[in-house]
Amino acid sequence: SRVIEGAYFSPTTPTSVTYQSHQLICIDNHGYIDRLVTSDDPDFDQIRQSADKANKLLSLSDTQFVLPGFIDLHIHAPQWPNAGLALDRPLNEWLDTYTFPLEAKYQDTDFAKLVYSDLVDELLRNGTTTALYFGTIHNAANLALAQACVEHGQRGFIGKVAMDNPEQTPAYYRDASAQVAIEQTEQFIHQIADLNKTATVKQTAVITPRFVPSCTPATLKGLGQLAKQYDLPVQSHASESDWEDGFALSHYHMRDAEVLDQYGLLTDKAVMAHGTLLNEDDYDLFNRRQTAIAHCPISNVYFGNAVLPVNSVLAHHVKIGLGTDISGGYSPSLYQNIRQAVMSSRQLTDGVDHALSPVHRGVADSSISVKTAFYLATAGGAASLHLKTGQITPGYLADLQIVSLPTPIPPDSADNIFEKLMYQTTKQTIDQVFVQGIRVR
Ligand code: GUN
Ligand code: FE
Repeated sequence: SRVIEGAYFSPTTPTSVTYQSHQLICIDNHGYIDRLVTSDDPDFDQIRQSADKANKLLSLSDTQFVLPGFIDLHIHAPQWPNAGLALDRPLNEWLDTYTFPLEAKYQDTDFAKLVYSDLVDELLRNGTTTALYFGTIHNAANLALAQACVEHGQRGFIGKVAMDNPEQTPAYYRDASAQVAIEQTEQFIHQIADLNKTATVKQTAVITPRFVPSCTPATLKGLGQLAKQYDLPVQSHASESDWEDGFALSHYHMRDAEVLDQYGLLTDKAVMAHGTLLNEDDYDLFNRRQTAIAHCPISNVYFGNAVLPVNSVLAHHVKIGLGTDISGGYSPSLYQNIRQAVMSSRQLTDGVDHALSPVHRGVADSSISVKTAFYLATAGGAASLHLKTGQITPGYLADLQIVSLPTPIPPDSADNIFEKLMYQTTKQTIDQVFVQGIRVR
């Protein structure tokens, strides 16, 4: 039981944020927010004093603010050493020349431990308290990632990557057969269950077909069955590139999303990365299945060469969160991705002044606000994973970050403070991070 006294911002809807200037955030022994107490509440002084006496009070300064921890809804843990490299290559060439050779190295579990411990720590420093990870095909390394999450105190959703299509994966890095891909996935599910027996912050195994081209139909089918049997989340990529869409059309005579659906992979616990080229029918399908999209705005600049129309996704009531897509994206920071989400949306929008010119060069009403991008990084990601986190509300997990303004002269309104925090926060100005009420940074 701990009490944080100070100001906070929390998302309320996809376009609005609530601000409280002076509250007590009371955290129970299980790591949940059990009460928010405003300064005019008759209990305020008493709760504050008894927390202070018990050495459980954290009183923030005027330039510090509490935000929900972020949820990275799509990240490739093994690609961390390549962050920033080869961003100019087309997706399939980048996979073959940079990504698969690096991922193959996780055969070496010591290498995996080194990278994964560094990455999990880096993400926590950047305010990411939950992450939905792709691992590699190697379960010893995937387990090392889960152990790193437990040790550092991060909530990890982790997938053993399944990829067995000999036409689209190299001999040095693929599952030997559909049977192996499915068996190893099932083995990893049991390994995570074992690990959780002693873990304070629980980890979740995720069914992870890399994407349609990497998998044989037998693997897609078997993984769809496992997702149902174990009631586990699913993650993959959907309609990220023309090449990927073309593969589904030429091999299955269907759209990429329809292939995933045919194998039972679009569930209400599924998260599909990118989705930049999904059409209206696909959005309707995602909506019917309650499948989420992980928006990866930095990565999409490089590999998608396209902008996800976030407002259209929201208008179709499709769940959506934010991902870094390391190393398709170069940055481990969701703050950077919040900024890019806003910037990309503005480049998609119709930027013409109608009074002066009748020419339209974009898509009307595509711009999103920084509040919407913040919603994606918090409540949107949480809803996608069925988690009670991403909001500062009683009954929600105390996954929190305490951030400082980068300047001693605070902006003059809550909206301006919020924008300053979204645009200027770096890991150096994130003072403390909590997962389930436990301080992890
Ligand atoms: N599609 C299949 N694998 C990958 C990957 O590792 N990164 C991205 N961005 N897209 C993919
Ligand atoms: Fe990806």
